[in-house]
Amino acid sequence: MPLVTTEKMLMDAQKEGFAVGAFNVENLEMVQAVVEAAEELKSPVILQTSAKTVQYANFSYFHSLVKAAADGASVPIALHLDHGNSFELAMQALRAGYTSIMIDGSHESYEDNICLSKKVVDACSPSRISVEAELGKVGGKEDDIDGGDGGLTEPIEAKEFVERTNVTSLAVAIGTSHGVYKGVPKLDLERLSEIRKVVSVPLVLHGGSGLSEESIKECIKRGICKVNYATELRIAFTEGVKQALSNTPNIIDPKKFTSVGREKVKEMAIEKIKTCGSVGKAIVPAL
Ligand code: G3H
Ligand code: ZN
Repeated sequence: MPLVTTEKMLMDAQKEGFAVGAFNVENLEMVQAVVEAAEELKSPVILQTSAKTVQYANFSYFHSLVKAAADGASVPIALHLDHGNSFELAMQALRAGYTSIMIDGSHESYEDNICLSKKVVDACSPSRISVEAELGKVGGKEDDIDGGDGGLTEPIEAKEFVERTNVTSLAVAIGTSHGVYKGVPKLDLERLSEIRKVVSVPLVLHGGSGLSEESIKECIKRGICKVNYATELRIAFTEGVKQALSNTPNIIDPKKFTSVGREKVKEMAIEKIKTCGSVGKAIVPAL
């Protein structure tokens, strides 16, 4: 099936009260693992690459990989730029065929964030490519990029932000953070419900790794429609590779150890898709 955008996928999720897992992929094996997991569970899925990942191998490599996986799949798959940090990077993703783009202007002032996000929406809307923005600051570090501290999303600002930018989804800061949590994260669930009351577009939860199943399910009940997972997948892949290399130190065929990483990522993606409640929710678009 061709790649789909995230707009309809997330609106369907919002209507039915589930979330779509959005998984950061770094190589061929992670792409295969996530798509196999989604296919087995008949779930829609989002594969995403961060700004650092497309610096490592460019947009064209990842677009080709994910498109090849989607062409052979029967479930809807979207390819998303995660934490795009400039207008230029967002346009590179658009030109490469990404079907969904995050512009992260959360480090800018409120007005500059609106201006940047709207500029990306205006550029993407003729081709109907979905745009996610972030308001407030998700803490922690992703790919060495510091999200900064605090700065939770204000519901009133969120309402105005969505109205003025026309983004198709909004990432909110409610106490989650990127990377490995130190201690138990304190989520401001009331704030999430308040945001949902005044914002109609689907809401996105960043920093999914390390959150308990209960917390994620509660966030979905309160309006989250997309949950981002990166760190736990990276750990799963690396653990698998390490395990294979330490069990058989004389391996020289990379396939022999990367395939073990791939299996670990698939197991992890299966667990997360189940938590998101999207099993059996693959809706095949009408021709
Ligand atoms: O944008 C990606 C995520 O928010 C992933 O966060 O590494 O904590 O799973 P995580
Ligand atoms: Zn994130």
